Amino acid sequence: MASSGFNAQQIIPLFAIAASLLTLTGAATVVVGGSENWRYGYNYTEWAADTAPFYFQDTLVFKYDNTTAHSVYMLPNLWSYSQCDFSEAKLLANPAQGEGDGFQFVLNQWRVFYFASGEGNDCKNGLMKLVVVPWPRF
Ligand SMILES: *[C@@H]1O[C@H](CO)[C@@H](O)[C@H](O)[C@H]1NC(C)=O
Ligand SMILES: *[C@@H]1O[C@H](CO)[C@@H](O)[C@H](O)[C@H]1NC(C)=O
Repeated sequence: MASSGFNAQQIIPLFAIAASLLTLTGAATVVVGGSENWRYGYNYTEWAADTAPFYFQDTLVFKYDNTTAHSVYMLPNLWSYSQCDFSEAKLLANPAQGEGDGFQFVLNQWRVFYFASGEGNDCKNGLMKLVVVPWPRF
């Protein structure tokens, strides 16, 4: 009778392949805006659409120098995001924290992340906002 299913000799190589795939597809570090960094007037909605998918445990890096006065907030929901309403926003990085290697944020929750700069008209007119939804890595 022919054997069905997997035996140990077949399963062990499968584990090895799965482990090497996990290594290959490990968490990524993504600079928000790429070479444009985090600046007034760059379309981060478009950038996020072009750059997606983002994965769970990826690190986003917001880079800006303190002379340009930007920041990073997390907004609680789509309404506050669309209105640029910061009344219930959480400050993640102040205008000095984007210096050097930038401010790093790990996508370590299963949720929709609404990011925006809270300085001046950065969010309302400067396009400095984006939505990120982390995907699972298989
Ligand atoms: C930014 O990009 C999005 C997505 O492509 C687009 O819908 C929107 O109109 C753009 N905003 C501006 C001000 O160009
Ligand atoms: C702001 O930027 C200037 C120039 O890069 C730097 O010398 C200064 O230490 C920075 N201040 C803070 C608070 O990071």
